[in-house]
Amino acid sequence: MAQERPACGALEPEHVQQLLISCQEAKKSAYCPYSRFPVGAALLTWDGSIFSGCNVENACYPLGICAERTAIQKAISEGYKEFKAIAIASDLQDDFISPCGACRQVMREFGTNWAVYMTKPDGSYVVRTVQELLPVSFGPEDLQKIQ
Ligand code: THU
Repeated sequence: MAQERPACGALEPEHVQQLLISCQEAKKSAYCPYSRFPVGAALLTWDGSIFSGCNVENACYPLGICAERTAIQKAISEGYKEFKAIAIASDLQDDFISPCGACRQVMREFGTNWAVYMTKPDGSYVVRTVQELLPVSFGPEDLQKIQ
């Protein structure tokens, strides 16, 4: 079985702070005239780079994309596909913003053992691994199992 990189507990405090700031900053760019629910995300790659993203909605509603997937697509298109963590920000005061199922599956494409920081506007957060957010998942390895 393929070994995955070490678990996400090793994130440096400076990286956590950078992610928290970057996801809140990215939220300011959200294009969400329909939901009026701005979301920002910041993705930390294995070499310490950060890619941010916001939700981008469309008059044809199903074409809207979440902040998390914007950030992931930006990173992938710049040549990165190994991630340490993603942080997510919204305007919800009393709840930690939780990624939708589609975003969880897209995160899982790039491994199960990395961290998702779900934040509140005051900078508090809860952190879970992708594995914890999407247990018993289907992923690229499964496609290799067909004889
Ligand atoms: N949204 C995100 O961007 N990320 C999440 O984690 C939850 C939801 C967006 C999608 C849509 O533009 C708006 O928030 C309302 O669902």
